[in-house]
Amino acid sequence: MRKLSCVYFGLTAALTISLTSAPSFAQQDRPWMNSKLSPDERAEMVLKELTLDEKIDLVHGEGMPGWAGKVFPKAYWGNGGAGFVLGVERLGIPMIQMSDAAYGVRSSADNGRYSTALPSPIASAATWDPQAACEYGALIGRELRAQGYNMTLGGGTNITREPRNGRTFEYLGEDPILAGTLVGNRIKCEQAQHVIGDIKHYAVNDQESGRNEVNAVLGKRALQETDLLAFHIGIEIGNPGAVMCSYNAINGDYACENKYLLTDVLKKAWKFKGYVVSDWGATHSVVKASAAGLDNEEPEDIYYGEPLKKAVQEGKVPAAELDDHVRRVLRSEFASGIVDFPTKRSVVDVERGLETARQVAEQSIVLLKNDKGVLPLDRAKVHSIAIIGTHADESMISGGGSAQVDPPGSVAPVWKSHVWFPTSPLKAVAAKAPGLSVKFASGADPAAAATLAKQSDVAIVFVHQWTSEDFDLPNLSLPENQDAMIDQIASANPRTIVVIESGSAVTMPWIDKVSGVLEAWYAGSKGADAVANILFGDVNPSAKLPMTFPRSEADLPHPHEVIPSPSMLGKEAVMATGEAKPTFEVHYDEGLKVGYKWYDAEKKPVLFPFGFGLSYTSYAYSDLKVKPGKEKTTVTFTVKNTGSRPGAEVAEVYAALPAETGEPPKRLVGWSKVKLQAGESKEVTVNIDTAYLSIFDEASESWKMVPGAYSFMAGESSQDLPLAQKITLK
Ligand code: BGC
Repeated sequence: MRKLSCVYFGLTAALTISLTSAPSFAQQDRPWMNSKLSPDERAEMVLKELTLDEKIDLVHGEGMPGWAGKVFPKAYWGNGGAGFVLGVERLGIPMIQMSDAAYGVRSSADNGRYSTALPSPIASAATWDPQAACEYGALIGRELRAQGYNMTLGGGTNITREPRNGRTFEYLGEDPILAGTLVGNRIKCEQAQHVIGDIKHYAVNDQESGRNEVNAVLGKRALQETDLLAFHIGIEIGNPGAVMCSYNAINGDYACENKYLLTDVLKKAWKFKGYVVSDWGATHSVVKASAAGLDNEEPEDIYYGEPLKKAVQEGKVPAAELDDHVRRVLRSEFASGIVDFPTKRSVVDVERGLETARQVAEQSIVLLKNDKGVLPLDRAKVHSIAIIGTHADESMISGGGSAQVDPPGSVAPVWKSHVWFPTSPLKAVAAKAPGLSVKFASGADPAAAATLAKQSDVAIVFVHQWTSEDFDLPNLSLPENQDAMIDQIASANPRTIVVIESGSAVTMPWIDKVSGVLEAWYAGSKGADAVANILFGDVNPSAKLPMTFPRSEADLPHPHEVIPSPSMLGKEAVMATGEAKPTFEVHYDEGLKVGYKWYDAEKKPVLFPFGFGLSYTSYAYSDLKVKPGKEKTTVTFTVKNTGSRPGAEVAEVYAALPAETGEPPKRLVGWSKVKLQAGESKEVTVNIDTAYLSIFDEASESWKMVPGAYSFMAGESSQDLPLAQKITLK
């Protein structure tokens, strides 16, 4: 039927049918179209109608434009995204049209479309704000549908174990409770727009170097309490239709054929009802992958096309196993609403997108240093401003790889090229400073930039650290001699403010010489306006770091990243024994001690701690009370705005578990973002789920709370916790 419609109607008609047509059959012929039934019931009904070929069609992709230089025969049914899964037209089941959408919808240039670039996910984590995460997801959901997609491939949640990882910007930092909560809220609101949501890359895809060949080795407890916990929380809150298994192997088995991860943990222990989709090209087998719980191969049908069909016919893959894969795909289609609400292309709401992008950016820019109140800039005192930085006259940088959003006016960027968004710091600052002198120097000639800085009341230096999928940073230093440039400018004018555009932590050898530092991350389509609003105090910064900024790479759990030799790379190396085997290992022997837990346990001083971020006002914490309960422990305290401006404070709560648990010194267990007028006080209540006070017991493969003495601490950052109370929990 599908093939016929293509031959008969040609390209245009086929696209119209696949993307927009509502089912034209009467509902009595299609009882699964009754939206009052549960997604499980509806999926079961459709499953019973399917032929073997139709089932196979639902468990693999039909190619991605440009993938491996191949031409895919059904490409004309695609929507220009990362791939698609055929529908079952005779039963009213639409195609699944997927697009990457880490911080906005990908591939606008190639498709002649437009997408908003939000600040990168790591920036959104710096908001610590589930509502901002929700708006982030909702915007992406809307723009996906406007462009004819009904599935997102966003939702990156890998914990920052290795800050040099080139995809750190796509993830949500180093704490599983923060990352899981935010990605869950993002997914919830993305799916509310009727797109299938996705969480990725499951799991421990924590470095890009040798991502297809690496075996990540870590104990079950460490795995569960760190990387997997983020996914579990995200899945519980967001209920995504799909989980994307990652490229790497974990404890010996590739993620997409790892029974422990896919079946024992995800589908059985967590009761995940959606489907597992492979990362692009991350499938390595038929029988092993299917038995392990992989439901859908992307972007091709190398294993889950004819070979899977044959394996089912020969009894090597039980028919019930195939049915389970298919049922899960169908269930997610019903649960997300893509069957009941077929996509209808529309014009992306550009203005609304820009407004959201600016608001999220304003909440995500972290004020790291502000000596002698250099910020906010005071128009009565500052008469001349130097704006310095290679692109600071025109644009701000963005994160690359499959996350890349194309800037307006651009052609499709070359893979792994630096892409700058047309949001001009120079213009944004000048617009805020009518009558003041605002001059620009690129910094290409550091001496000339230093001279301009010297002649100006303040120098604002925009620096960047570009990162992307498919490679890791050699170190955390700013590239291209930017450290030396900052040093020279700060020597000329100590009233130097550095604005960092980065995807991860950076080291700051010049920190003592400058007066102000803002971490702006990859700030998205409206980054410059957001930065200017903060520089001039129209917005009071409220963001906090979702990851530690170490003093140097020497302090990391792994001072040197494990980099594979060329002979360990490639399919041949992986398939040398006839079945897929990783070729090198990374031992995450820091175990539970990820991020701040490492620095706490090892007593290593840091440059800026997890949870840190300044404001233009000040806050005082008092009156901590801890009330234990069976399901949750309630922590209350008072936060007062002791300064002269309104602000929003992320009040953080940490717990130290009993010594016998062997846990790192403390873990984040909750937080609340409190808006306070100048002088205002509020009592803050943070309910802490007992699960967040538990540990994973390897012997019983379950979570348990260890009775004993627990300390609860509250304050402004992981290293500024003025309130503490110890109680015994049973
Ligand atoms: C990336 C995924 C992405 C996929 C499709 C892969 O290389 O790892 O995150 O969704 O490509 O573009």
